[in-house]
Amino acid sequence: MKNETENDEFWESSFIEKQEMWGFEPAKSAILAKDFFFEKSVKNVLVPGIGYGRNAQIFIDHGMDVTGIEISKTAIEMARKHYGNDMRIYHGSVTDMPFDQQQYDGIFCYALIHLLDSSERSKLISHCYNQLLDGGYMVFTAISKKAQTYGKGLFLSEDRYEVFDGVKLFFYDNTSIHKEFDQAGLFELTEIEENQPFFLVKCKKRT
Ligand SMILES: C[S@@+](CC[C@H](N)C(=O)[O-])C[C@H]1O[C@@H](n2cnc3c(N)ncnc32)[C@H](O)[C@@H]1O
Repeated sequence: MKNETENDEFWESSFIEKQEMWGFEPAKSAILAKDFFFEKSVKNVLVPGIGYGRNAQIFIDHGMDVTGIEISKTAIEMARKHYGNDMRIYHGSVTDMPFDQQQYDGIFCYALIHLLDSSERSKLISHCYNQLLDGGYMVFTAISKKAQTYGKGLFLSEDRYEVFDGVKLFFYDNTSIHKEFDQAGLFELTEIEENQPFFLVKCKKRT
């Protein structure tokens, strides 16, 4: 489908051009998720949109196994170069989940969901939920309407804009977070300042 190919090409050329564009330090949200997963004795973490792995190594360093999904082949090669073969990474789009039959007790998805359209977001949430063990946890981060870029660029649909060439963002508020995540076991919603204002969404799979 055209959108998918455009998205794939956009990320592939971004990683070719800008390489390790976010550096090697994990995001604040990844550190919080690691602390949370560690406290809950999570063992197997799935990271959709793993990029070149900067937000994944921290889980491995704390004894967890990591599996990633990533659309850019170049990002996967970079992850291999920097972090070796400790993480299994599936090459493909989250829209094609599941990539395996494994049940994970933790899922960490950083700054990916807001790149998707409404039906892709809904599928991502339900595919992740389906791959969670009963009682498992998912932590998502998503851009907030408080971002400077909200309302800028080409209007696509309610709260969704093409802010610059090839980058389409859905900006969340409390209402849209609850609308999309309540049925996936949302139990804690906080705001966090990364390079942009984000929501940190924690969900637990009902047992
Ligand atoms: C904003 S970046 C965040 C990357 C990473 N989580 C980090 O911060 O280091 C989004 C990541 O998701 C990947 N991505 C975008 N669309 C995807 C899709 N449909 N399926 C899988 N990965 C995707 C991009 O290639 C990129 O690595």
